[in-house]
Amino acid sequence: MNVWIIGASSGIGKEVAHVFSKKGWDVICSSRDENELHRLAGDLTTRYRGNAYVYPIDLENSSDISLYVEEVYNKHVNIDCVVVTAGTLPRNEEEYYNEVELLRVVRINYTGIASLLNGVSRRMVAKQNGIIICLSSVAGERGRRKNFIYGASKSALTAYLQGLRAKVFNDGVRVITVLPGYVDTVMAYGKVKKGLAASPKYVAEKIYMLLKQKKDVTYIPPIWWLIMAVVKLIPESIFKRLRFEV
Ligand SMILES: NC(=O)c1ccc[n+]([C@@H]2O[C@H](COP(=O)([O-])OP(=O)(O)OC[C@H]3O[C@@H](n4cnc5c(N)ncnc54)[C@H](OP(=O)(O)O)[C@@H]3O)[C@@H](O)[C@H]2O)c1
Repeated sequence: MNVWIIGASSGIGKEVAHVFSKKGWDVICSSRDENELHRLAGDLTTRYRGNAYVYPIDLENSSDISLYVEEVYNKHVNIDCVVVTAGTLPRNEEEYYNEVELLRVVRINYTGIASLLNGVSRRMVAKQNGIIICLSSVAGERGRRKNFIYGASKSALTAYLQGLRAKVFNDGVRVITVLPGYVDTVMAYGKVKKGLAASPKYVAEKIYMLLKQKKDVTYIPPIWWLIMAVVKLIPESIFKRLRFEV
């Protein structure tokens, strides 16, 4: 079995690579940091004796993405599962008016991933088989003053995944949306108290378990379903006055 992980160089994606490789999958590792991807691939082959491949990709360059997908599929005809863990936060959350940063975040978190999954899903539909697992975020569930540029890009991604799921539902392709809460990675560093964040290993193991479950959308850890259900119920007139700490 083959899995292609986009965002494998760090955090949740790196742990997902370990979990799949340990279970005997061949792993195709992508993101921008080629050196880190080679280190990871070496580690995986040494530890678990399976195959690991490296394909650098920059999701910000959306014009190259369809060619890139073609190149990966030319070498790996049978990709059973694609896991997208790539994502980014604005470099300075306070600079919501910074247009360069706004476009960078949207290009990576939404348009880059959507164009990649357009290419992937088309190929999976042709084979009438495949699983797409994509990480969005609880931040996309409701716009908060603290991180609404990131949240809006994740909201767009969540809606895209919902539509894609319906589009390919009758073609043997599953699309699973993962909505993590806080996870203890570089991305969340300094933004949340340590005890409140799940470990990336825990999230990766939960992601692997999705292969055998029938879920379309899942919150990890599951408590975030309840938290977001309450948050979404708060009337807008009150919500706009709240100052969330995290
Ligand atoms: N950590 C949290 O608290 C949290 C909470 C909710 C949702 N999430 C979501 O979970 C996913 C994984 O997050 P994480 O915490 O594991 O973050 P992370 O450790 O910062 O990893 C992010 C990954 O995205 C890749 N990436 C960033 N920009 C890219 C680009 N232009 N092209 C290709 N790859 C790119 C990075 O690799 P390179 O630098 O090598 O490109 C890295 O592998 C993200 O989608 C994030 O939004 C995280």
